[in-house]
Amino acid sequence: MNKLYDNKLRLLIVDDEEGFRRTIAKRLAKRGLKPVQASGGEECLGILKKTPMDVVVLDVKMPGISGIDTLRLIKQEFAKTQVILLTGNVAVSDGIEGIKSGAFDYLTKPVEIDHLVNKIKQAFEMIRLEEEKQKELEYRAKLEKKMIDTERLVSLGTMSTGIAHEINNPLAIINESAGFMKQVISTLEMSMFSQKDALLMGIEKIEKGIKRARKITHQLLDHVKKPESQFSEVNLKALLYETLGLLKKELKDKNTTINWKIDKKKNVVWSDPYQIRQVLMNLLSNAVHALQKNGSITLSICEVNEDIILEIKDNGIGIPKENLSKIFDPFFTTKSFHEGTGLGLFVVHKILSNLNGKIDVASTVGKGTCFQVRLPKYDKSNG
Ligand SMILES: Nc1ncnc2c1ncn2[C@@H]1O[C@H](COP(=O)(O)OP(=O)(O)OP(=O)(O)O)[C@@H](O)[C@H]1O
Ligand SMILES: [Mg+2]
Repeated sequence: MNKLYDNKLRLLIVDDEEGFRRTIAKRLAKRGLKPVQASGGEECLGILKKTPMDVVVLDVKMPGISGIDTLRLIKQEFAKTQVILLTGNVAVSDGIEGIKSGAFDYLTKPVEIDHLVNKIKQAFEMIRLEEEKQKELEYRAKLEKKMIDTERLVSLGTMSTGIAHEINNPLAIINESAGFMKQVISTLEMSMFSQKDALLMGIEKIEKGIKRARKITHQLLDHVKKPESQFSEVNLKALLYETLGLLKKELKDKNTTINWKIDKKKNVVWSDPYQIRQVLMNLLSNAVHALQKNGSITLSICEVNEDIILEIKDNGIGIPKENLSKIFDPFFTTKSFHEGTGLGLFVVHKILSNLNGKIDVASTVGKGTCFQVRLPKYDKSNG
C-alpha cells in the first residue's frame, strides 16, 4: 500500500473473535495501516458516531446485531463509509445479501492478507472518486446558477432599455405640460385665483416626480451607443482621474484619500470610452457614498494575459452577505429615495457584458468593498 493511503485511510475492523481480529490488525499494521478495532456491531456504530471511518471490515457472523444489520445501519447513517464484509466460506449468500445492502465487496474467511489490503485500497479509491464526482456536481450547479443569473440580468437589461425609451416620450409631454401650466398660473388673470399657491405646489410635485423618472431613464439609456461613441484606446488611469474630478466635492467633504497602484504602461484597453466612463462613475460614486470621513479608495490596474483588471476598493461600510446576490438587480438599493435609484450596478453589469468584460465583488461589513472589473485589452468582437 502506498504512503498516501497509509496517512489518510481511517480503517475499522469489526469481529467478535479477538484472536482473529488481533492477528489481522497486526498484519495490516506491518503494511502501514493502523486499524481501530471493535468486537461487535454496537461497538462499531458507537465508534463511527464519534470518529468517521473510510473503510469498515465487518464480520458477518457476530452475536448481538448481525453483520448485515450493522452494514445497513452504517449505510443509513454514514453513507460515505465503505464496508467490506467477511463471510464464512459456506455462507456466500450472506455476501450477496451484503452487496444488495450496499457493501463494497465481500471476502471469505480465511482471509488472504494481500487480498484484503487490495480490497481496502479499492474501497478507499471509490470514496475519492465519489468525492470528486460530488465536487464536480456542486461546481456545475454553481456555474449553472451563475449563468442563469447572468442571462436573467441580460434579458432584464434589454427589457428595461426598451421601457426607458417608451417612457421618455410621455415624460417629455408631462414635463412640457407642467411648464405650460406654470406659465398660465403666473399670468395676470390668474393673480386673483384663490387656489393659485396650492396649484403651484401641485405642479412642483409633478416636476420633482419627472426629475426622478428622468434620473432612471438616463441611467438606463446613457450608455446606449452614442453617435459619437466609437471604440478607441481608452486610458483607464486618465478616465479615472476625469471621473474623480466629477466627484471632487463629495471626496473633499469626506476628506477621502485616493491611493493609486497603477502601472504607467499597462492601463490601456481598446473599448468604448463613454460606456467605460459610466462604469467608473457608478463604481466610484458608490465607493464614496460608502465611506465615512477620512476613508480611502484604492485604485489598482494590472494586466493578466489578454485582460486588464481594474480594482476599486474602499474601506467603507461594506455589504452584508445577504445583499451580495442582489446588488446587481435593478432597483435594489439601501439608499434613501433621494440618494439612489438602485440602477447603478445593474447598468454596470449590463455595460460590461456588452463589452465582453466581467465584474466581481468581495466585501466585509465594517471593513470595506472591492469591485473587480475585467476587460479584454482588445475586444475583437467590437473592433
Ligand atoms: N462600494 C460599496 N460599498 C457598500 N455598499 C455598496 C457599494 N456599492 C454598492 N453597494 C450597495 O449596493 C446597492 C446597489 O448599488 P447601485 O449602484 O446599483 O444602486 P444605488 O447606488 O443604491 O443607486 P444609484 O442608482 O443611484 O446608483 C447600494 O444601495 C448599496 O447598498
Ligand atoms: Mg450607485
